[in-house]
Amino acid sequence: MKTLTITRPDDWHLHVRNGAILKTVMPHTARQFARAVIMPNLKPPVTTVAQALAYRDEILQAIPAGMDFTPLMTLYLTGSTTAVEVKKAAESRHVHAFKLYPAGATTNSDSGVADIHAVYPLLAVMESHDMPLLVHGEVADDACDIFDRERVFIESQLSAIHENFPGLRIVVEHLTTAEAVQFVQSASAKVAATITPQHLLFNRNALLAGGLRPHHYCLPILKREHHRLALVAAATGGNPKFFLGTDSAPHQTSLKENACGCAGCYSAHAALELYAEAFERAGALDRLEGFASFHGADFYRLPRSTGTVTLVKSAWQVPLVYGDDGVAITPLKAGEALAWKML
Ligand code: DOR
Ligand code: ZN
Repeated sequence: MKTLTITRPDDWHLHVRNGAILKTVMPHTARQFARAVIMPNLKPPVTTVAQALAYRDEILQAIPAGMDFTPLMTLYLTGSTTAVEVKKAAESRHVHAFKLYPAGATTNSDSGVADIHAVYPLLAVMESHDMPLLVHGEVADDACDIFDRERVFIESQLSAIHENFPGLRIVVEHLTTAEAVQFVQSASAKVAATITPQHLLFNRNALLAGGLRPHHYCLPILKREHHRLALVAAATGGNPKFFLGTDSAPHQTSLKENACGCAGCYSAHAALELYAEAFERAGALDRLEGFASFHGADFYRLPRSTGTVTLVKSAWQVPLVYGDDGVAITPLKAGEALAWKML
């Protein structure tokens, strides 16, 4: 049987929520990944080091006994974040970055940044403390077509941030367009990016053609095929600026299969299998390890993880739903067969 063994990977962009959903999803991620960057868009958001440490403890409690997993915490940047908090975060062993959500751009982003220039003084403090800024790169402008929001954000805001703060390490999260790939490739080594499994596997037809598929609705939204091809080329090209970040984002099935369904694809149950499928299709399975296990750690200046995971080419069927006790989460590829399986 065909097998693939790689250094145990890390997930550089993950939502795990809290409470009952956290307990449902944490075993999936802890089984596959050594570490994950935990997104702070809870209700209310994680804005202080004290809140991040409390959230970290809640996450550690949700890891099944015997599993070795390290959450890498982030803080949610708001108009009220202070320079003192940025310094505290930089001094904390457990907080690794700030997350910038343009206000209104996505799930739980109401507390995000409405005026990017208002937080420029904080970006300067992050730059001086070498604290990475993780960016949801979309404008939250009703007048801007949803398929253009990433490109417009890069042109109108991100380029200026990078020019004004050349020393600031930036991760452009969940790339979805050829323009974003181009931006990251031509920026300095301070700029890197994550790419999700859904944006490697699907274009917007998977969301809209032959029926509306709410479980393929995420933000930034799936784009045209030529964008997907640019993302596959970036992920499989060996460039260390690009690394694995699932953006696995659990929502209750009832809130996705809804007249106003919320954004997010749940992929933690089979993240590596989904990436393996994308890399195999591109004839680049030998590049999966760099993307999944080395590039992100190097960018974050953390030691590469130890240990290995093994995938086998052995088909299995994804369950229709995960959870119990009131939790029901429909995973990506629910009810479908996956070619790869992690042992
Ligand atoms: O699809 C998404 N879901 N995109 C985001 O930016 C947020 C995430 C979530 O938290 O559900
Ligand atoms: Zn996210």
